[in-house]
This record gives sequence, C-alpha cells and structure tokens, in this order.
Amino acid sequence: MYKYKVSILGTGFIGLCSAACFAQKDIKVIASTHDKEKAQMINDGIAPFYEAGLAEMMDEIKNNKPDLLTCLLDPVKSVIDTDISMITQGTPMRKDKSIDLSFIESTAREIGEALKKKNKYHLVVVRSTVVPGTARNMVGKIITEVSGKQPGKDFGLCMQPEFLAEGRSIEDTLYPDRIVIGEFDQKSGSMLQEFYEYFYGDHLKKCPILRMNLESAELVKYGNNCLLSTKISYANEFANFAELVPGVDVAQVMKGVGLDYRVSPKFLNAGVGFGGSCFHKDVNAIKAWSKSKGYTSRLLEAILGINDDQAIHIVDIAEQLAGKLAGKKITLLGLSFKPGTDDMREAPSIRVVNELLKRKISNIVGYDPKSKETAGKEFGNKIKIVGTIDEALKDSECALLITEWDEFKTLKPEDFKKRMKTPNLVDGRRIYPYEEFDSKLNFRAIGRISIKQKK
Ligand code: UGA
Repeated sequence: MYKYKVSILGTGFIGLCSAACFAQKDIKVIASTHDKEKAQMINDGIAPFYEAGLAEMMDEIKNNKPDLLTCLLDPVKSVIDTDISMITQGTPMRKDKSIDLSFIESTAREIGEALKKKNKYHLVVVRSTVVPGTARNMVGKIITEVSGKQPGKDFGLCMQPEFLAEGRSIEDTLYPDRIVIGEFDQKSGSMLQEFYEYFYGDHLKKCPILRMNLESAELVKYGNNCLLSTKISYANEFANFAELVPGVDVAQVMKGVGLDYRVSPKFLNAGVGFGGSCFHKDVNAIKAWSKSKGYTSRLLEAILGINDDQAIHIVDIAEQLAGKLAGKKITLLGLSFKPGTDDMREAPSIRVVNELLKRKISNIVGYDPKSKETAGKEFGNKIKIVGTIDEALKDSECALLITEWDEFKTLKPEDFKKRMKTPNLVDGRRIYPYEEFDSKLNFRAIGRISIKQKK
C-alpha cells in the first residue's frame, strides 16, 4: 500500500522533523521512543518541543492522514513493521568530553532483536552524529551479533549525516544542499538513494547525492561542524585583533574577508561565542576521538579555547566600561544559545554568568523572549529572570547583549538611558549601529574600540 515504510528510532529534532517531512510526502512513518508522554503527544499530532513549522506540519498530518505518522513505545515492533530504520538518537558529551554512544548502542540492540524475527532485507541508516567507525564497528556488529544476520546480505547499512540547524530543521530537511550517503556496500547505498529520489524528486537537480564509505560520511559531519566553529572562532580572533587598533571594526573586516568567492560571509559574525548542543559537543568528540587514536588536534583545542575566552572577554569589557561590577546590578539581554529557540544547551550566557559569579558579581538580572522556563531551570537562583526588557534594565548599571533577538535590535540609546541607573551597554553580538550608540551611550562592542578610547 505504501511505497516506503520507515521507522524513526529517536524523536528529537532530527528524528521528528524527518518523520513529519516524510509523512507529508506519503511515506508511512512509525516513530519510536521510550518516553510515554512524548509518544502520546506525537500520536495526538502535537509537537513535543518547539521548532519552527513542526507543530503546523504535525497538525496537518493528524487531520488529513493520521496513519502516516504514528509513534510506538516498542522499537522492535516499529522495525519489524517497516523496511528502512533510521537511528536518530542523541549522542551527548560525556563528563570527559568524549562522545556518549550508549543510546546508539541500545538502539542497535533493539534493531538486532527485531531483525532476528524478520526474514526480509532491511536497511538500517545511522543519522546521528557519530565518530568514525561507529556505524560499522558498533551498529553493524551489534545487529549481526544479536540477530545472527549478515550485513550486506540480510540487512543493509548506511550512515547519512544530517545538517539541520535548530530553528530551520524543517526547511533544512526539505531543501538540503547535498545528501551524503556512507554505505556498507553498493546495495545499501542504492536503496537509500532510491528512497531520496522518491522523497526529493526535482529538488535533487540542485542537490547532489554523494556516495562514500561509512567512515568518510561520519567524518563529513564533523568536518562541517568543526569548520563552522572555526569560522566563528576565527572571527572572534580577529575581533581581538581589531580591538588593538582604535577605529578598526571586525564586522567590516569580516565582510571584506567573507566576500572572497572562496570563503562566504556566513558564520563570520564575531560575538560572545558559539553555543548549542552541537558545536561544542562535536568539536570535543572528534578531538577526543583523534586523541584516542594517537593524534592530538591543536586546531580544535584553539577553537574551543577562543570560544570560551569570549565569555571572559565580554565581562572584561564591561568592567573597563563601567568600573568594578561587584555590588552593581547587571543585565543580560538574551539567554538562549541563539535567537528563535529556548534551548539553553552550552549557551554563552552560562559561561558569562559563571564568569560574573567568579568575580563576585551576583546581582544579575536576565531577560529572554522565549527561554524564561529553560533558563530558570539552568540558572536556578544564580540569576533573577524577569519577564520584560523594562524590568531587566530598570536601575541596572551595565547591560550585556548576549543573544541577538529581533526585539533587542529595535532598542535605541534612549531606551537604555531612560531605564538604567547608569547606561553602560556592551554589544556582544554587534547588532547596534556603532557610531550612534557610541556617541549617545557609554558603549562598547565586541571587535571595535572607539578612536577616542585607549585600551
Ligand atoms: C549547527 C549547524 O549549523 C548545523 O548545520 C548542524 O546540523 C547542527 O549544528 C547539528 O550538528 O545538529 P545549531 O547548533 O542549531 O546548528 O545552530 P547554529 O545556527 O549553527 O549556531 C550555533 C552557534 O553559533 C550559536 O550560538 C550562534 O550564535 C553561533 N554563531 C553562529 C556565531 O557566534 N557566529 C556566527 O557567525 C554564526
């Protein structure tokens, strides 16, 4: 009845966005999770977390074609009832900063259990970000051991990294710029390619499918996230250079650099550094992996170091501007790791708060348009989280712009002057017109110091 039946094992951003997009194109999807509440929500057509466009898509599927997307609490059954299984589990960072593959391992076991009971060829696709060797030596091996079946004969194995950015997951799923297929053998890769030819149709005219071995595909994902992190740390390094010369502006410098046709201006915005569940985790994971193989990466060490230092640097700038901050009320504008999400994972605001507390600056008020709840959980009573910009700025002696939400972009120097006790502002994301703010406020910005100012 359905041309394709796909099981999605793991219902986070990648899993659920893929599931909804597939179902919308008449692919029968059986998702699976061990979380009862989440499964119920998915079956009710409700998105269990916020991601732009996902709720609408799930609602539409529920109303028009409810059979196309269901969620079970039984991964074995979801594998048995489908032809392709995609592993979309999280691969968090361990305490020692290496990759935690335990969810991948247990999912591989569940697939093995299912394939033991199944006599038809089945394709297993790893979509999670995993260090080279995981698909073959962990997933393939465990399935073989548990099921007694042979990869290449009884089941196929692919590794297809995802490149979704939070807030754009649906768009990135529907319109990727390339599809990378790592394959155990040609048959596995061809089956996955045919699936995507069916799913993407004409979009493939502008989206190449690259086929390679499993380990190369695993490394492509790290190649991307490490390069994007490198670009950000590179821009931040140049922000520090720019601050050595009054009048030099890192934003102009990076624009000049980025317009070189070999570079691209994207991800060259200097600021308080990168956050989120991916860059930090992935750079650390591949660094730990290479070290375990006898190669120590100096580049990745530097990228992480520069990133961490930006949080210290913004506090230094604030103290240069406003004097010693201990005992003063400080405002953080923006707490989530980027605009458009309430995700606090590895958010730069956490590093900034830790630095402030280290310097005994404890009267900290934070405001974020979306992350009141998640930030509340993250910070506990370390900072006071308020519900409006007004409250956050009231009587404050120094404001630090941490996340570039649109509602902060419309603030004028007068808005800070009116509300704050002393209008000291540090622009940690370069969203304010420098000349105007510098002439009307006590103002500093990452990557630029004023001609009138000596460091
Ligand atoms: C990132 C990648 O962009 C995705 O391609 C990848 O699939 C995903 O990780 C993943 O591995 O799952 P994401 O973490 O959602 O996506 O967010 P980004 O938009 O990449 O931003 C990450 C951080 O970099 C944010 O804190 C952002 O503020 C910061 N950033 C970004 C900068 O500081 N400067 C820039 O120029 C760009």
